Amino acid sequence: MMRCAIVGYGFLGRALVKSLRESYGGRVKVTCIANSRGTLFKEGGVDLNQLPAELSEAVGFREVSPIDYLDKRWVDVLVELTPTNVIDGRPGIDYIRAAMRAGLDVVTANKGPLALAFDELMREAEDKGVLLRYEATVGGGIPVFTLHRYYLKSDKLISIRGILNGTSNYILTRMHFEGMPMDLALEEARMLGIAERDSKLDTEGIDTAIKSVILANSLLQAKKRLSDVKITGINSITLDAIHAAKEMGMTIKLMGLVEDGKISVEPRLIRLNHPLCVHGTLNAIDIIAENLGSLTLIGHGAGKSTVTALLSDLNDIARLKYID
Ligand SMILES: NC(=O)c1ccc[n+]([C@@H]2O[C@H](COP(=O)([O-])OP(=O)(O)OC[C@H]3O[C@@H](n4cnc5c(N)ncnc54)[C@H](OP(=O)(O)O)[C@@H]3O)[C@@H](O)[C@H]2O)c1
Repeated sequence: MMRCAIVGYGFLGRALVKSLRESYGGRVKVTCIANSRGTLFKEGGVDLNQLPAELSEAVGFREVSPIDYLDKRWVDVLVELTPTNVIDGRPGIDYIRAAMRAGLDVVTANKGPLALAFDELMREAEDKGVLLRYEATVGGGIPVFTLHRYYLKSDKLISIRGILNGTSNYILTRMHFEGMPMDLALEEARMLGIAERDSKLDTEGIDTAIKSVILANSLLQAKKRLSDVKITGINSITLDAIHAAKEMGMTIKLMGLVEDGKISVEPRLIRLNHPLCVHGTLNAIDIIAENLGSLTLIGHGAGKSTVTALLSDLNDIARLKYID
């Protein structure tokens, strides 16, 4: 039985617990759950059916950091689900490092640590003989890293293009099909709860840049940082520009581009019938490889589809290390 600590009990932490309770129980035991206020630790396993809506109301919840519980005596895998911070990666990067130092494997959905210190973290994982999995960080439920690990590694990857931010894609879709002004479409995205708390991360292309860096480092060993990315967001795109594109059977999409050793984020014209041209909050990733040619993956970039990515990473670790 693989024992997990879930650090970060917001949208994804709760959705993961729900899945573990309903359909995945038995193979994974959760010994620790933490949020920003404290930690619930049960050496024999937290009863996921008895968790109150507020974690802090659970019997045994203590206002302490989970870091002391990230120890091989009680936990095998850290599932790190704290907020993304691209300034210094904290608190996620501290939890990930503490867990790996203690010999724990790690699954994370948190883009910050990987966008800031991909190579360092991978080296630390290798030095400690642990696995660090991050399928959920890019494209939500789209299995791009798993596909690379188990299928694409035999080919030579040439470039990656992606529509990687659901909010900006939603805004551009509303502009294209309904002729809605950008500020109204953004307001709608906020009301639907799609936009990041700081929507500049979406519209200024920063979220797309973060994900492009992780893709470039993971799939193309690019050794790039966020500061290496040339970023142009969608703020200057007018309805007139969208209309002109439409007249040519095209539209404008915000794309993360990894090509010729460079990473950039910019609005690009794309034909409406191109496989990469997805609408609404959908994400799409197009990989070009020497033998394979072009392969386009399409899926939901956020929401509960992301839980599939977390469970897949946990499953992979269980298969590689905990099941004979
Ligand atoms: N939501 C998605 O669809 C999605 C998709 C892909 C990737 N991600 C990434 O996955 C991560 C989690 O996303 P989410 O939507 O679940 O975020 P969220 O709803 O904001 O939840 C974040 C959780 O982290 C906790 N937290 C904050 N600071 C902490 C600290 N110092 N120690 C321990 N816990 C702390 C929060 O505690 P409180 O509850 O006390 O505030 C909260 O429980 C983020 O990095 C996000 O970018 C999310």
